Amino acid sequence: MGYKEKWYHNSYFRSFCFNWNNPVYKKIYDWLGSENILVDVGCGSGEFLLLSADKINLGYGLELSNQLILQSQRKLPQTLKEKIFFLQTDFLNWQQKAEIDTLTLIFVLHEIEPKLRIQVMHKALDLAKSVIVADYVTPQPFNPAGMFNYLAELLTPKDHFRNFRHFQHQHWLNSYIKENNLQVMKEEKILSGSYHLLKISQR
Ligand SMILES: C[S@@+](CC[C@H](N)C(=O)[O-])C[C@H]1O[C@@H](n2cnc3c(N)ncnc32)[C@H](O)[C@@H]1O
Repeated sequence: MGYKEKWYHNSYFRSFCFNWNNPVYKKIYDWLGSENILVDVGCGSGEFLLLSADKINLGYGLELSNQLILQSQRKLPQTLKEKIFFLQTDFLNWQQKAEIDTLTLIFVLHEIEPKLRIQVMHKALDLAKSVIVADYVTPQPFNPAGMFNYLAELLTPKDHFRNFRHFQHQHWLNSYIKENNLQVMKEEKILSGSYHLLKISQR
């Protein structure tokens, strides 16, 4: 098991993010229409897709970590096995021919290397009619929520933290949207202005 798998698999991380009451998941759920195909990239242990099952016809959860995919598959009720599929794969190598309605990237971009981050966003926008991103506001607000997030990231492995800092310093999401002239369909900042939610598409 690589360091990443160990990190995402530990209970410390899960206790913060993988939570049914997560207000980020709830907000994104509200933004979904009736989706034919939804793809959740970096699905972790699958909660968001499971929560959204009633709004989708077909859902794919893609995740690098085999451990997290096994956890997701264990949680998948029999009744959803025909429409939700959890796959252990690198999104950048994933082949998909059918058009995706919505692709979600929830707390994924800040932690990946800058070069891969661009590739992931380009591919997401090429494959899907719209992409919903939830990640940190940049810079993080100077309030308890912002300080808490910064501290939580400080405790992550060195390269994870380096990627987070790059994401912060470059105001990465806003810059990417501007540089690529993307259309912002919905935008909201929640949790004391510390999380940024965006629904975007190519023009
Ligand atoms: C911070 S976790 C977030 C998990 C989940 N989206 C959530 O809401 O809690 C980011 C996840 O993205 C996954 N990930 C990063 N790059 C990926 C890629 N290229 N393909 C698939 N999964 C990826 C990591 O393995 C990790 O589990």
